[in-house]
Amino acid sequence: MIHIITLTFNPYGSKEMEVKAFYWERDRLKLLDQRELPRRELWLTLTDHLQVAQAIKNMAVRGAPAIGCVAAYGFVLGVKKGYPAKEVYETLKNTRPTAYNLFWALNRVLKAYQEGRDPEEEAVKIEREDYEANKKMGKLGSSLIKPNARILTHCNTGALATAGWGTALGVIRSLHYEGKKPFVWVDETRPYLQGSRLTAWELLKEGIPHSVITDSTAGYLMKKGLVDAVLVGADRITRRGDVANKIGTYTLAALARRHGIPFFVVAPTSTVDPTTESENEIPIEERSEEEVKTCGGCPVAPDGSPAYHLAFDTTPAELITAIITEKGVFKPHEITKTLDTKL
Ligand code: MRU
Repeated sequence: MIHIITLTFNPYGSKEMEVKAFYWERDRLKLLDQRELPRRELWLTLTDHLQVAQAIKNMAVRGAPAIGCVAAYGFVLGVKKGYPAKEVYETLKNTRPTAYNLFWALNRVLKAYQEGRDPEEEAVKIEREDYEANKKMGKLGSSLIKPNARILTHCNTGALATAGWGTALGVIRSLHYEGKKPFVWVDETRPYLQGSRLTAWELLKEGIPHSVITDSTAGYLMKKGLVDAVLVGADRITRRGDVANKIGTYTLAALARRHGIPFFVVAPTSTVDPTTESENEIPIEERSEEEVKTCGGCPVAPDGSPAYHLAFDTTPAELITAIITEKGVFKPHEITKTLDTKL
């Protein structure tokens, strides 16, 4: 069932305006269809795990932490409907391969279920923890950035990509609400345009000054001295501190290094994969040619030309200044320290 409502703010009772990507309503999940933004705010109502799996696959919901939260609720819907837990788990697990948060969240709800605990309580906890982690990362990250900084960001790492507030965009939000007046260069982020469609939409709603740029503009702005820091999120972080994130992230890290600009990754520890040693082991999602060859339904390449569409790339630890997590700020090679401590 599909219906349209206006966007609601302040889900957690905080004083700042906040965007929400999804709401749990016990026997259904309300999801803001991100494919429709910024044209309209269309909310989907999902009632079983098959619909949730489809929404993750077709990117009605996206962003590593949001995918994790929504998958956990999908698991709850599936088992409440009487589907075998293992089947529900597998269906949701096979939606997108790169974001580690998906597997992390599904493992948590499956474990709760197997141990006779309530998976719904666990899913609600996952959502709440993600929001709190984002607020912590926002504070930690903002302490590293000077007032009036011109920050370049890629993809969408905001409230839409998480349980709320955001990771890299959460740091920008914190800077804004602390009165530090950040300015944001928003990479449009071809081909899905998470930057121009989603990040700009969030920034505009909250009155945070920004400009949308084409992805290929970033290097020249750096060369001209117009970028003070690069802030990005992560889909998976390996034990040695390499990071998978939206395609184009590696290019930004290499450019930032060349121009002596700090390159920060902001991600909750639910993104750290304890089973993966280095970037070469990270599965990189390949998506359809169509998403590259069309834009808003219009062809932007000849029908007969093939396209190669990698949705993510990897950035080696050496190019990352620091990783900001809810447990502290770490040099990439120290990231496994976050695995040993409790939140
Ligand atoms: O393909 P997407 O839109 O799911 O990719 C999202 C990203 O790459 C984000 O940067 C990442 O998930 C971190 S979001 C807080």
